Amino acid sequence: MDDGRQSIPPTEAFAEALSGGLDMERAGLRWLGRKDPRSLIAVRHFAGPESYCLKLDGLRIAHLTDLHVGRVTPLAIQNAAVALTNEAKPDLVVITGDFVCHSQKYLDQLEAIVRGFEAPVIGVLGNHDHWSGAAEVRKALRRGGVEVLDNANTIVTLRHQKLQVLGLDDAYTGHADRERALKGLDPTLPTLGLSHIAEEADRLWPHGVGLVLSGHTHAGQITLARLHELAIGHLAGHKYVHGLYGTRALRTDPGGAVYVGAGIGAAVIPFRLGDRGKRELAIFELGMAPGSLDEHHVEQAPLKGRAPRPSLTAKRHAAVHKKHAKRAKKPAG
Ligand SMILES: [Fe+2]
Repeated sequence: MDDGRQSIPPTEAFAEALSGGLDMERAGLRWLGRKDPRSLIAVRHFAGPESYCLKLDGLRIAHLTDLHVGRVTPLAIQNAAVALTNEAKPDLVVITGDFVCHSQKYLDQLEAIVRGFEAPVIGVLGNHDHWSGAAEVRKALRRGGVEVLDNANTIVTLRHQKLQVLGLDDAYTGHADRERALKGLDPTLPTLGLSHIAEEADRLWPHGVGLVLSGHTHAGQITLARLHELAIGHLAGHKYVHGLYGTRALRTDPGGAVYVGAGIGAAVIPFRLGDRGKRELAIFELGMAPGSLDEHHVEQAPLKGRAPRPSLTAKRHAAVHKKHAKRAKKPAG
């Protein structure tokens, strides 16, 4: 048994229960195989925070998340995501974790996929990357040209404009270290945050991180009858389920915005139903004011949410180390 399954988030457990497991996975993949992969991905456009307008002039950021390269997401969909991203001509691509599913079997494929992006790529890891082997996932990403930020920040110069990017490691498995990530941050520069878990944004906004991009929830994958809000919000305890939350307006008190991407892939079942659950590439025009372009939706009110107990996060952290030790014991090949 793949012990990754023992720790799957309630969101995925819910989806799996709803689907009926492996038979539905096969049926889903057959159905996906008959579709034009480009038609399965929504390309959504948003302006950046108002505060960036004073400092940036039209930087285009492409945000993807939860590629989950592996058995459950056809390669044609991964390739379509790369092609759509390149067609949008972004200055920078950012990917917010869960590059793989439950194993290291598809790392060569991951490397080839990320190498396909024409713009520079910055990423952070997610819970599935830690379960599968963070060191190996990082290596594959770096071979493919991705800069991986593990609780760190960096400054990129894009078309003669400086953008600061802060990347938190995965908070779900207890690997996020905010203090380390904030160290040396230049408060005079516009800062974009990356975090697999969206709720981390609440504690980044007071440090001037005006926009945080995230993933993890897959928008619930099945969003008919607001099922995603039940599964991701009420059962899994997320405040932020899909799309924009917070504020992009200029404020005097510390505030900011967070975007939860619906993701490209899946780790358990391939199905996605409903507009919000559609696979997604989000394009952010930094330097454009909110309201200046036609957006899919505006900032939403957060759900009530329920933060995980520190003991639960510690348990998840320990589970990652247990898996690592188990892999290290396995004979090579
Ligand atoms: Fe994921």
